[in-house]
Amino acid sequence: MIKHIEIARLLKGDNEQLMGTSIEVKGWVRTKRGNKHVAFIALNDGSTINNLQVVADVERFDDELLKRITTGACLHVTGKLVASQGSGQSVEVQAEQIEIYGEASPEDYPLQKKGHTPEFLRSIAHMRPRTNTYGAILRLRHHMAFAIHKYYNDHGFFYLHTPLITSSDAEGAGDMFHVTTLDLNHLPMTEEGKVDYEQDFFGKHTNLTVSGQLEGELGALSLGKIYTFGPTFRAENSNTPRHLAEFWMIEPEMAFYELEDNMDLAEDFLKYLIKYAIDNCEDDLKFMNDMWDKELLDRLHFVLEHPFIRLPYTEAIDILQKSGQKFEFPVYWGVDLQSEHERYLVEKHFKCPVILIDYPAEIKAFYMKQNDDGKTVRAMDVLFPKIGEIIGGSQREENYDKLMKAITDRNIHMKDMWWYLDTRRWGTAPHSGFGLGFERLMLFITGMSNIRDVIPFPRTPKNAEF
Ligand code: 4AD
Ligand code: MG
Repeated sequence: MIKHIEIARLLKGDNEQLMGTSIEVKGWVRTKRGNKHVAFIALNDGSTINNLQVVADVERFDDELLKRITTGACLHVTGKLVASQGSGQSVEVQAEQIEIYGEASPEDYPLQKKGHTPEFLRSIAHMRPRTNTYGAILRLRHHMAFAIHKYYNDHGFFYLHTPLITSSDAEGAGDMFHVTTLDLNHLPMTEEGKVDYEQDFFGKHTNLTVSGQLEGELGALSLGKIYTFGPTFRAENSNTPRHLAEFWMIEPEMAFYELEDNMDLAEDFLKYLIKYAIDNCEDDLKFMNDMWDKELLDRLHFVLEHPFIRLPYTEAIDILQKSGQKFEFPVYWGVDLQSEHERYLVEKHFKCPVILIDYPAEIKAFYMKQNDDGKTVRAMDVLFPKIGEIIGGSQREENYDKLMKAITDRNIHMKDMWWYLDTRRWGTAPHSGFGLGFERLMLFITGMSNIRDVIPFPRTPKNAEF
């Protein structure tokens, strides 16, 4: 039986019946201060950003024991819950017994002091969840993950588990991690001098998935509305503050949705998540706002209260070209927009989230629904302040012949994709979907500026230590 009480519950305020009784709390020491007579220990157990004040009468405790209570040590405290004398907290615990579970020597405990940079904390990613900042981020991450499942469940979507190991290459080759059990030092070769994947575990060449979309479409065209929420992998060597090699993606896919419906869903979904965070994560958001990004709360409220601008790519190019702004990358019709362009539109021109639609076919994936102009496709990217692209999606091409043409135009190997084409062969239907990068969302929700800081164990080029 767990007897101890979580600090979040103690500080919540509905603990009338516990007042004056002896309770047990467990957690890590954030700070200890005091004088000859009394020690004040700020205890945190991870359940909330807020610490519980433990008051220890110096006389009651062994000197040696008190000395071993330093920042980072883990304690089990039994004591009386009373209204706090000091300001800053409603209740405190008057210690009767203190057991030290684990010491943290001040000489080498890396989080002895406050105020470390994110860069330093990344080098001790195994310990950083013990800091206030990462505690807040990880709790926010949990609440957002929960809210995502709640949103889709409440809206009649089914959670579809798509595979992580795949033999298809959905978004274009070149940026996937290979999955193999072949001995890389003794590769079996075919007569033509190529690696003989028939001898590999799956009898064919396989990769880690870059997206669950193609399998998601199978789900949508049978269950109606599905979503996936899982890890995805991209081996592109882009060392930016917005790219991870392993990231989580949420991909809803809906039969009978056209691009307008897809946009409505994306906007409603993002606003729901922001509102959920504001309503349920007040303390952690306020902490992030005060410590890391003084405009965070204003930005969250702003996005919540304004309709997203919806704009064709062609008009966006026009705005960028007429902006008079100096961009590092040139702007012309057909260019794949860079983050600087996206952020100019969102932060300077519209000062509002923007959904760009109808992109040139050449810069988008083969599966997007083709417009009648023969040049553009029913793509949509949702662009956010501070982030740039947060969502990428489209209406899908449901016409077998048009899809086949897009595939051949792009020289895509379809021999492993017959199953995808079959959805268009039998009972095809208009459908749409999108992918939300979970860590991009977390950047927006937390106000952090590097994506390595919103996932517990970041995977980036040359980094998979912890
Ligand atoms: O735009 P992307 O590549 O779209 C797809 O993968 C589609 N199959 C989604 C769909 O329609 N079902 O990726 C979707 C989102 C991006 O908008 C971005 O938020 C995020 O995934 N993303 C990344 N996040 C972190 N690190 C990376 N390397 C990312 N690449 C994409
Ligand atoms: Mg994209």
